[in-house]
Amino acid sequence: MIVAANWKMNPAFDAAGRLATVLAACSFKPVKRILFLPHPYLVPISERLGQSEIRLGGQDCHQDAAGAHTGDVSAAMLRDCGASIVLLGHSERRANHGETSALVAAKARQAVAHGLDVMICLGETLGEREAGKAEQVVIDQLRMSVPDDMPQHRLIIAYEPVWAIGTGEVASLDDIAIMHNAIAGELPKCQGGVAAAKTPVLYGGSVNAENAFAIFALDNVYGGLVGGASLNAEAFDSICDSARAQLSKS
Ligand code: PGA
Repeated sequence: MIVAANWKMNPAFDAAGRLATVLAACSFKPVKRILFLPHPYLVPISERLGQSEIRLGGQDCHQDAAGAHTGDVSAAMLRDCGASIVLLGHSERRANHGETSALVAAKARQAVAHGLDVMICLGETLGEREAGKAEQVVIDQLRMSVPDDMPQHRLIIAYEPVWAIGTGEVASLDDIAIMHNAIAGELPKCQGGVAAAKTPVLYGGSVNAENAFAIFALDNVYGGLVGGASLNAEAFDSICDSARAQLSKS
């Protein structure tokens, strides 16, 4: 079980430090926690977290190792600033920055080359769901976003229906189960058939303290990627506790 916080472009610097300190005060082992931080926060928060088992991640990296890319950040820079993982292909980057699955795959290759794990986001829009294309869209994204030579142990997938992100509208448990089963069925194929161990697939999209336990009970759901609720320590801790409770049941 993995519970990851996607802080996006939040919160203000002082509040971020306080939030990280509160989160580090509790342990939810064996649940793994990741904070995807705004890049300027990586160094100060990794210093603040010290020996905490919480892992830090960047929210994007460039597909090149270095060069004339104003405003971008490289995988090596993230690693050297305390990140051990990077979030790639979030729907906000696909929509706001025109990122394609091919670009996501190139970024993933670069991240792995610099020793980072990768969490790749997939998800359909409301229009695609209403047109009955949700599964096809997500499987196509998966095939094109995961590089052929991706080491299985470095990969985490997050399924996040775009219409559920930040809206308070969660996908139904049936829909989550259908999509996660489809992704789990496809994963071994897009990793050259070498995926003997399971790649974790997380659900994201309005996960909160009330719905997490039921979502985490589903087959092929290995935790959550949490946006809004991750900015509240009590809510995020409660979601981590739900993951731990599911683990102790199994
Ligand atoms: P949300 O965001 O939990 O606020 O819906 C999830 C995400 O975008 O990763």
